[in-house]
Amino acid sequence: MIEGPRPVRPNEYRSLLKLVNRTFIGSPGERGMESLYPWHLSSENRRNLWVTVENGKVVSHVGVSKRALAVDGVRIPLGLMSAVATDPAYRGAGLASRIIEVLRSRHDREGLDLYFISGDRGLYRRIGAVPVGRRLHFVLTPAALGLFAHPDVSFRPAGPRDLAAIAALHAREPVRILRPVADFRRVFRAGWAVLSPARFFVAEAGGRVTAYFVAGVTRKAGGPQSGRLVVVEHAGSRTDLLAALHAACLAWGKRRVELTVSPHERESLALLSGRHLGERHVPVYDAIAILNLERLIRRLRPVLAKRAGPAGRRLEGGEFNFKPFLALGASRVAVPREVMTRLIFGEPTRDRPPGVRADGALGRVLRAGFPIPLANPGISYV
Ligand SMILES: CC(C)(COP(=O)(O)OP(=O)(O)OC[C@H]1O[C@@H](n2cnc3c(N)ncnc32)[C@H](O)[C@@H]1OP(=O)(O)O)[C@@H](O)C(=O)NCCC(=O)NCCS
Repeated sequence: MIEGPRPVRPNEYRSLLKLVNRTFIGSPGERGMESLYPWHLSSENRRNLWVTVENGKVVSHVGVSKRALAVDGVRIPLGLMSAVATDPAYRGAGLASRIIEVLRSRHDREGLDLYFISGDRGLYRRIGAVPVGRRLHFVLTPAALGLFAHPDVSFRPAGPRDLAAIAALHAREPVRILRPVADFRRVFRAGWAVLSPARFFVAEAGGRVTAYFVAGVTRKAGGPQSGRLVVVEHAGSRTDLLAALHAACLAWGKRRVELTVSPHERESLALLSGRHLGERHVPVYDAIAILNLERLIRRLRPVLAKRAGPAGRRLEGGEFNFKPFLALGASRVAVPREVMTRLIFGEPTRDRPPGVRADGALGRVLRAGFPIPLANPGISYV
């Protein structure tokens, strides 16, 4: 008999790991997902690992880590959805869709406003998830980084004692994933971030840690990947970060550094943009779903007021006849779910949000208030 969707039970946890490891890792003997992404898939997060079970065997799984997005002082609770898998013999029967449907209404009731989903497919599109949010990608050569070299800035691998300073630097980013300090420790110990082995490095100036970056390293030697250095998360002083990346390039003989920058990182853009430093927009492969538009807009009001003036505080969101709308007094715009998500968080490869016809005060709030910047999940990515 098929049971679920429900959280995995302690006696089913091994069966769940078998499913996700067979799906995403393949060869036995490699480290399992629970060791690579402990905050997501370890038994500590068991209550958020939802499954369908047949005769004690886990046949479908959707995992969620509950975190929040911080935007200019506003906190938006969200779920990072990942490690979604169905046993090949059970695929196409709607099991994963069913778990996601159940989770969506449950998480809405619990107060989560968004899902950050690792992936973009029909399964997620059905709950309105779309790739949104702009990201810029810079491919920097050592010569280009030479612009930022500074003799007073050095870099070194981070040790466990640096993690408090690293978390404090991250906490100063105005747009970020709010995560417990324990997450930094878990990633540090796991030595794995995004999709590869990774290590933390710190930049120091005047004997103080002023920036950090997390970069992919090679599996065997634990040193940086040959040829290129891929930075998966960074924070702190951008001038010191770039000086440290230059020093790292020289120390490791790198030919290029790959750095992803969000449009809200004004300091990074002021330093890097328009200098022919290999800048390009990159497609976003992950999707965002809004779970509760009304609550999301209410939470965003202080940000909207800062950007669009007092009228921003009066913007309302909601849904009528399954169509999401935004309203200011008597004026309103109603658009399909995906268009609404793109309007609020911006298109991945365009500066301007989708054209939505709205005049007067509503039009002004929409143009000045959106897009809302999104944080790159960085080390919280599974
Ligand atoms: C992706 C994956 C989790 C889907 O699991 P699933 O339980 O088969 O998902 P569903 O059955 O709910 O939906 C799968 C497809 O079957 C179709 N389907 C759903 N219910 C159906 C039904 N009752 N009858 C026939 N087809 C159905 C859907 O159209 C869906 O296609 P779409 O997502 O492209 O729109 C599974 O294929 C898998 O484990 N893949 C490998 C790992 C992976 O890629 N994970 C996702 C990372 S982003």
